[in-house]
Amino acid sequence: MQAATYNLETRHPGWPARLGPLRVAAGEVSVRPIRLRDAGDWSRIRLRDREHLERWEPTAPGPWQDRNGFWSWPPQWMGLRSLARRGQCLPFAIIVDGQFAGQITIGNVIRASLRSAWVGYWVSSTVVGGGVATASVALVVDHVFASAGLHRIEATVRPENVASVRVLTKSGFRKEGLFRRYLDVAGDWRDHLCFAITVEEIGDGLVNRLIAERRAEWA
Ligand SMILES: CC(C)(COP(=O)(O)OP(=O)(O)OC[C@H]1O[C@@H](n2cnc3c(N)ncnc32)[C@H](O)[C@@H]1OP(=O)(O)O)[C@@H](O)C(=O)NCCC(=O)NCCS
Repeated sequence: MQAATYNLETRHPGWPARLGPLRVAAGEVSVRPIRLRDAGDWSRIRLRDREHLERWEPTAPGPWQDRNGFWSWPPQWMGLRSLARRGQCLPFAIIVDGQFAGQITIGNVIRASLRSAWVGYWVSSTVVGGGVATASVALVVDHVFASAGLHRIEATVRPENVASVRVLTKSGFRKEGLFRRYLDVAGDWRDHLCFAITVEEIGDGLVNRLIAERRAEWA
């Protein structure tokens, strides 16, 4: 038992983790590992928020209702949990005022001399514009640099996704370029801007920066 724990920790430093809470305009924001019992909240929000989410998400087979119904969460949760156990991702739920309100995932973790990953996120339409995604990015990016041993985080975003571009620029990500016809999103190959941040660029950390800018405070 002890040996298994040791192996998991050394293979995947920084996981599992609970981060926050930070107080922002929308409420108290924290992140924690996704759970099987998030199914009901996850499905309810995603079925309601199709308009808000679908145009920014990778194209996937099958109708939205099926892909986001209650029973499509267990296999997704299991797949992410298995990647997390192998050290390849850190799949967090975003919690606002104690309620499930979205996801933020560090994916495609590559170690050795690259030590890089991507970040992806979505939040419930009921909390948009309240600083939730920015606070979640700050908590998670600080954590993976401090505790998960990563050096660089990338994010790709459609140029039309003004809110997400703003989250990244507010967080200190640099625009590195434009990937042409990069990802199949909402039924077509879409150009994506590539943003990135490295550990050398975060100074005292993104959370401290948010607090200094009076965009957040520890709750
Ligand atoms: C993108 C998303 C995660 C942002 O979440 P959020 O919690 O609202 O983000 P924040 O409140 O931290 O920051 C959003 C910023 O964008 C700004 N913004 C939002 N819509 C905007 C618009 N149409 N034009 C200009 N600015 C806009 C907000 O004003 C805010 O900036 P500010 O703090 O300077 O005022 C959320 O809109 C979402 O889930 N979208 C659908 C899924 C998605 O796009 N995921 C990302 C894929 S790359």
